[in-house]
Amino acid sequence: MDRMKRPILIHPDPRLKKVATPVADLSDELRVLADDMLETMYDAPGIGLAAPQVGILQRAVVLDCVREEGEAPRPLIMFNPEIIAASDDTKVYEEGCLSIPEQYAEVTRPAEVTARWIDRDGREQQDTFDGLWAVCVQHEIDHLDGKLFIDYLKPMKRQMITRKSQKLKRERARD
Ligand code: NI
Repeated sequence: MDRMKRPILIHPDPRLKKVATPVADLSDELRVLADDMLETMYDAPGIGLAAPQVGILQRAVVLDCVREEGEAPRPLIMFNPEIIAASDDTKVYEEGCLSIPEQYAEVTRPAEVTARWIDRDGREQQDTFDGLWAVCVQHEIDHLDGKLFIDYLKPMKRQMITRKSQKLKRERARD
């Protein structure tokens, strides 16, 4: 089946602030959604995307943090992902988000996390992530709880980024 790109919601949007519903049955419709999300993410280009960002309030995320030229892609599809362990060690990373284009800010998160999820075939998976993968897994799972990376920032900085995103959203709507 052909993958289809889906429009990405831009902050501020009430749908980005909602808690997404757990996936009860892994239907073909959800598999198509995940495949479309990967297509949308690669096209953007980005390294992660959560279902609420395409307006679907279900607990599904996709990611691929392989960025080296010539290295094989490693697409991951996660339904109902959960962080089940996190390191005390933290790491600061300058994050961005496909729903907040052109805005970046430093966020502190656990450096290493173990996540559990259901894969595209309905099998339970578990893995430990570090580096950029750890950042991305946490950032995407946050989306499922209506949380954006700017929610970790001080109010002034958050408001500034929100204003810029609002402006960009208006400009894009006009074009
Ligand atoms: Ni994001």
